[in-house]
Amino acid sequence: MMQDLQQLTLALSKGRIFDETLPLLEAAGITVTENPETSRKLILATTNPHLRVIIVRASDVPTYVQYGAADFGVAGKDVLIEHGGEGLYQPIDLHIAHCRMSVAVRAGFDYVTAVRQGARLRVATKYVQIAREHFAAKGVHVDLIKLYGSMELAPLIGLSDAIVDLVSTGNTLRANNLVEVEHIMDISSRLVVNQAALKLKREALQPILQAFEQASARMA
Ligand code: ATP
Ligand code: PRP
Repeated sequence: MMQDLQQLTLALSKGRIFDETLPLLEAAGITVTENPETSRKLILATTNPHLRVIIVRASDVPTYVQYGAADFGVAGKDVLIEHGGEGLYQPIDLHIAHCRMSVAVRAGFDYVTAVRQGARLRVATKYVQIAREHFAAKGVHVDLIKLYGSMELAPLIGLSDAIVDLVSTGNTLRANNLVEVEHIMDISSRLVVNQAALKLKREALQPILQAFEQASARMA
């Protein structure tokens, strides 16, 4: 099958990534003509006849781009680290969806002493790669428990001593009587581009990448 070198597919996830990417698309003169919150459609048209948007799970964005099913996409640094980044070119920090990756424990749990005494900690997280690297660098022995969501529950119910999770306002931690004890890294979302598309579709991609870069630099 001949590749249409003009046709571009952008992978986005519903919610904050979609919402915060819209102004960047607008800066490139592109409007998405359907709303994923009200439409059940997963392939959305835009005002640019050469660009369509596909709606996928946030953690699936790198996979679609890696295999070239999408030419480019937007994903959090957390998602990209967990995925491994294979087959992806990461040219731009878009400075959107800002948050941080942190270690949190139940209020009253003496994390510092537990670490100092060399206790083996049970840590529940969706971000096992980031957690493994963080504790290995500190020389802390941990048993990692993989979860897919609602990490905040784990220390409250006795599943783990600590969690590694995303924090923004801190409201979710506070609401669950948890405290942040370590800041692991700052997180924002990146543009990722399929490496083959970058070469083959450069002409179609370049103006959009440039507009994204300029608009995101203004947000930095
Ligand atoms: P999935 O659907 O694959 O489980 P998810 O539910 O984490 O993923 P979103 O909640 O849409 O997906 O988050 C997308 C990205 O936004 C995350 O990967 C992260 O980089 C960032 N993010 C997550 N939570 C926040 C937050 N509270 N404030 C700002 N940015 C956030
Ligand atoms: C994210 C994250 C935390 C919360 C932190 O969840 O998993 O639970 O945000 O934000 P805060 O510090 O401002 O409370 P999100 O709101 O995306 O819910 P979801 O993961 O269930 O989509």
